[in-house]
Amino acid sequence: MKQAKKLVGITDTTLRDAHQSLLATRMKLEDMLPIAEKMDMVGFHSMEVWGGATFDSCMRFLNEDPWERLRKLRKVIKNTKLQMLLRGQNLVGYRHYSDDVLERFINKAIGNGIDILRIFDALNDVRNMEKAMKVAKTEGGHVQATISYTISPFHNLDYYLQLAQTLKDIGADSLCIKDMAGIITPTMAYDLVKGLKEKVHLPVQLHCHYTSGMASMSYLKAIEAGADVVDCAVSSLANATSQPASETMVAALENTPWQTGLDLEQLSKIAEYFKKVRAKYNNFDVADGTVDANVLRYQIPGGMISNFISQLQQANALDKLPQVLEEVPRVRADFGYPPLVTPSSQIIGSQAVLNVLAGERYKMVTNEVKNYMKGLYGEPPAQINEEVRKKIIGDEKPITVRPADLLAPQMADAKKEINFYAESEEDVLSYILFPQVAKVFLEERLSGKSNVDFALVNKEKDSDVHPV
Ligand code: CO
Repeated sequence: MKQAKKLVGITDTTLRDAHQSLLATRMKLEDMLPIAEKMDMVGFHSMEVWGGATFDSCMRFLNEDPWERLRKLRKVIKNTKLQMLLRGQNLVGYRHYSDDVLERFINKAIGNGIDILRIFDALNDVRNMEKAMKVAKTEGGHVQATISYTISPFHNLDYYLQLAQTLKDIGADSLCIKDMAGIITPTMAYDLVKGLKEKVHLPVQLHCHYTSGMASMSYLKAIEAGADVVDCAVSSLANATSQPASETMVAALENTPWQTGLDLEQLSKIAEYFKKVRAKYNNFDVADGTVDANVLRYQIPGGMISNFISQLQQANALDKLPQVLEEVPRVRADFGYPPLVTPSSQIIGSQAVLNVLAGERYKMVTNEVKNYMKGLYGEPPAQINEEVRKKIIGDEKPITVRPADLLAPQMADAKKEINFYAESEEDVLSYILFPQVAKVFLEERLSGKSNVDFALVNKEKDSDVHPV
């Protein structure tokens, strides 16, 4: 057997991205806790358990406190580093938040158990990441700065290397290549990782979705080029729109100079467990188990295509799907080639649908598109088509500063507003991020806690009293 030159790390995404991608982010804490200790013993580089859409989903669909989820996982997962996905100045929401909110949010995320913060911006606008990176660093977190990977006539190796160097200059501890659409080819993965290792000199982690079927090949090439960590999910929640399976990577790398040091026996027990869990969420399960070749043709994430199908169905125009798929790259070009990831994927996607349904481009536009054109999401990678901008916002001058510079502090007012229901600063943050959803959640929690009284005074409250 060859001696391992280097151990390649695996970040397990089962408790965050895997169920976000396959089960509409619906996995409950009660299905995570019984297996968490076993997962902790595997020896993963880290476990991604928080952030992304899980925060919203906890309160909106599961009647769970996202902060409580983090604390409970931290309590059981004693050895493995816990990781979260943070949308830069958008935190775990869909718009920019003021710096005082960002500071408190990151302080609390780390305080409740997060070790590694993977920070990205949908436009790769470093100004939208910088504050989060600085605060995470000050609070003692590991800052994993992210390159959102996309393909366009504008994006090339030099662009990514330059972006990575900037991220290093402002304090990145490691780099993540985030391939949310699953479109990075094995060759590009090799070249990009090699370039980053040689020129930027930081640990490199690769995050791919399996959607197009290329991800495990890309992982292998990236590892050959020196990648330090790859993101995987346990096999029963892997592949399709999720990450490649851990077991596959462990076995493929055995007897090579890049072993993982992980044990297939242990992983198979965890896979067995999640197989049963997955069956419980059958109603939300989106995977059809096949490779989505459309992703390769149109270079857009699989999730966007399923959104198009439901939007077009509602408009009774499913036959327009091919036109919409053709329109996406044109809208992207007009918009300065943003990577397609939350929230830009939603902004571009809805606009492509509107352009096709209206029969005239940009005749109807969403508010988000207006804000995008005003610069309120930041600066896109390439030039915006000025003719299109003019059609959308007229002569209004777009902003040139960092969008959050225009936001007044929000913490103090929010504290006053939600004072009656909030039991902690964490609750106030939940409220700022998702005002309506959090208010209902916190109200119900309060009524649940004083169960008896509420039941006596307010009969109709009975139905939505939830045990805490
Ligand atoms: Co992902």
